[in-house]
Amino acid sequence: MLLEVKNLNTYYGESHVLQDMALSVDEGELVALLGRNGMGKSTALKSIMGLVKPKSGTVRFKDKDIAGYPPYKVARAGIGYVPEERRIFPNLPVLDNLAIGIKGGKIDAGNPDAWTVDRVFKHFPALKARSGQKGSHLSGGEQQMLAIGRSLMGNPELIMVDEPTEGLAPFLVMEVRDMLKDINKVGVSILFVEHNLKVAMSLAHRLYLMGKACLAFTGTVEELDAQPEIRAKYLEV
Ligand SMILES: Nc1ncnc2c1ncn2[C@@H]1O[C@H](COP(=O)(O)OP(=O)(O)O)[C@@H](O)[C@H]1O
Ligand SMILES: [Mg+2]
Repeated sequence: MLLEVKNLNTYYGESHVLQDMALSVDEGELVALLGRNGMGKSTALKSIMGLVKPKSGTVRFKDKDIAGYPPYKVARAGIGYVPEERRIFPNLPVLDNLAIGIKGGKIDAGNPDAWTVDRVFKHFPALKARSGQKGSHLSGGEQQMLAIGRSLMGNPELIMVDEPTEGLAPFLVMEVRDMLKDINKVGVSILFVEHNLKVAMSLAHRLYLMGKACLAFTGTVEELDAQPEIRAKYLEV
């Protein structure tokens, strides 16, 4: 297992938002985390990333327990993170926004598989055409691609993407979905939060469904497809 989260408990003050959360992502896997608003999906990603400190639990990544690590150390361990709000630098051009994703500011010249700006542009051709534009001049879809591209510049083995298709026009939803599939095909494991069930089912190898503070379901797309009552209970469908 590449990532294995067990018994993760996270609080905001008195509010026990993650209660013994568990999930895993295998090498090469594309895993979706679904559930209604406010269940704790973003908190789960933030707890793994070290942006929110879990009170207890283990976050095993490549056989190291990284629970409680600060975000920069989690990133160095090999996890990329694309927040829901994307956090593009509005005044910087696309190229500089990408450069910010390079860990320690240094290109890994010894690694032939290392992500470069050119390689990101190959996966996101729409971004290449906009490479000199400022972040604030990009459309929502382009900003999403840029945020994903920036996370790849750190050569992560796993990226966690929070709501990649949120707020995008339908044709862009499909474009971003296909790009995530392509990136996964070249060997990047992906854990993503998604509100669009159709997108999640067409992309994920395996899904987790969150109920209040803990998991309600875990299984393959086929298994979730066979359980309409679970979908009705835990998802807005
Ligand atoms: N920084 C915070 N401080 C206090 N409560 C928070 C904070 N962030 C999220 N919450 C609360 O924690 C719960 C889970 O939030 P979140 O993880 O964002 O859910 P989801 O991503 O599934 O919509 C919600 O009730 C939300 O209001
Ligand atoms: Mg969220």
